Amino acid sequence: MAAEKMIWQGGTLLAPVPAVLVGCGNGKEFLYNLITVAWAGTVCSEPPMVGIGIRPERYSYGLILATGEFTVNLPSTNMVESVDFCGVRSGRDVDKFKACGLTAVPGSQISAPIVAEAPLSLECKLEKSVELGSHTLFLGRIVAVQAACALIRENGSFDVDHADFAAYAHGHYYSLGEKIGHFGFSIRRKAGAKIRN
Ligand SMILES: Cc1cc2nc3c(=O)[nH]c(=O)nc-3n(C[C@H](O)[C@H](O)[C@H](O)COP(=O)(O)O)c2cc1C
Repeated sequence: MAAEKMIWQGGTLLAPVPAVLVGCGNGKEFLYNLITVAWAGTVCSEPPMVGIGIRPERYSYGLILATGEFTVNLPSTNMVESVDFCGVRSGRDVDKFKACGLTAVPGSQISAPIVAEAPLSLECKLEKSVELGSHTLFLGRIVAVQAACALIRENGSFDVDHADFAAYAHGHYYSLGEKIGHFGFSIRRKAGAKIRN
């Protein structure tokens, strides 16, 4: 049965979303920094690209524009306090890596730092920025991915079940619940069916 709906004006209610730690700076003239970003998502498969929405007043905004690089670090639930901290303190005032006890490691393909403790990190080169209003969309090409070796299965795939990723919805942090399906399971019985994102 269709649910009865209330109509609100347009708003940012898409959920759940990831709350990622975006690494920026180059460790030289631009010191490493972290910013928490919830307006983040994959926007293209080939080439692999991610989009992040950042307000121009953020310290990280200038770092990303100046270096043309950033990393997207997916936190596990035990990192959520750091995720929150990096979202309420500015790199103008505090070394967030140090304050959170997180380890900055230069990317393999870029100078921006990954967070060593994160299970999965995406190294991105800034392709384009689009001013949208309150936020600017930074589109980054994912040039390398760093995955925790402990989470790589024997067949080479990433073990999401044990990554313990955190999610964010309407102002609250969550852990992921149980697995309830897999890509394409709804049409699995139709032999030969091929689907792509
Ligand atoms: C859960 C969470 C999500 C956030 N998402 C965004 C976001 O998508 N874009 C943004 O510009 N700021 C976002 N913020 C706010 C910034 O992370 C925050 O202003 C931060 O202190 C900026 O750091 P910086 O000045 O070192 O760049 C978020 C904060 C939190 C706690």
